[in-house]
Amino acid sequence: MSRLDSFIRRLLAQRACLDRAAVLVGGVPGPVVELGLGNGRTYDHLRQILPERRIYVFERAPAAHPLCTPAAGYLVVGDFAETLPGAVTRLGGPAALIHADVGSGDETANARLAAWLGPLIVPMLAEGGIITSDQRLTAEGLAPQPVPAEADKGRYYLYRRTAMARRAAAS
Ligand SMILES: C[S@@+](CC[C@H](N)C(=O)[O-])C[C@H]1O[C@@H](n2cnc3c(N)ncnc32)[C@H](O)[C@@H]1O
Repeated sequence: MSRLDSFIRRLLAQRACLDRAAVLVGGVPGPVVELGLGNGRTYDHLRQILPERRIYVFERAPAAHPLCTPAAGYLVVGDFAETLPGAVTRLGGPAALIHADVGSGDETANARLAAWLGPLIVPMLAEGGIITSDQRLTAEGLAPQPVPAEADKGRYYLYRRTAMARRAAAS
């Protein structure tokens, strides 16, 4: 497979998982969290498919086109390690959906980031809420969900927060 084909497949998987996630959170109240603004492509997609939701974006180096940059108050600048702890207060409550598109070309760095990011973001998510991610996440209370058929296995991930994790977090 050429690198172009691989890139296209990644984007198809990403869009399919975002669209599926938007359906899955239909009955879950709360805002949307976008981790990694990048060029603002997925932020722009999220605001089109979930126009009624507040969307908070976390990014350490915002450089997206102004039309795809969140309004003041909805863009949180800094490293996830500093901006995510306690972020639920800023959100006004737990999120219905978290999209984590945080990877780079460095697989070792991606694995390291995913290892600490999962446990950090689970407490930000409402019970029944959904995480969709470009990285495989492992954290207590995250139940993997099947990805849409058009998403190649292992390219994008979907998780639902289980009730068990919420009780564990509260204890
Ligand atoms: C793959 S890009 C996101 C692409 C974006 N979703 C889009 O569709 O245009 C990943 C982004 O995550 C950001 N990022 C990665 N690690 C981060 C960290 N530890 N803290 C804050 N931002 C981070 C990078 O700066 C980069 O902009």
